[in-house]
Amino acid sequence: MKTLDFLHLDKKNTQPVVEGLQQLLADYQVFYTNLRDYHWNVTGHGFFTLHEQFEKMYVDVATKIDEIAERILMLGGTPESRYSQYLQRTRLGEVSDVRCGTDAVDGLLDMLGAIIAEQRRLIKTAEAADDAVTVDMLTGYLASQEKLVWIFVAFSTMACCK
Ligand SMILES: [Fe+2]
Repeated sequence: MKTLDFLHLDKKNTQPVVEGLQQLLADYQVFYTNLRDYHWNVTGHGFFTLHEQFEKMYVDVATKIDEIAERILMLGGTPESRYSQYLQRTRLGEVSDVRCGTDAVDGLLDMLGAIIAEQRRLIKTAEAADDAVTVDMLTGYLASQEKLVWIFVAFSTMACCK
């Protein structure tokens, strides 16, 4: 007995959705770790704001990671859990030696942009599979991330701390 048998989704059409969710899972896992790095290591101008904001974001990303992994399970897949595989798969790089807040915000916007683009692609794939739940989940992510991008672009107009 499989969950997918009861969801009235076509297994063949759902497979690319699972693949896309695995990609997103890898991206979010690396994004999470990068946000922890920013939270710990960014200093100087904007420290109080950014330190708190990065924590809020990695807590939110941890929730999304679990939602994505569980969606993979509902669709009949097995979520990848090996960090070595995430690193091979993700399009995001690991961050290191970022100390200036504005550099961190630039890096954050690049990562968010890559995740947003990935989600837009995956929404189209999920629509083609009649997978309204994945579409809805990712659309919800986009709504809050578009606002975050606006907030961080506004923040990045501040003078650099260098
Ligand atoms: Fe902390």
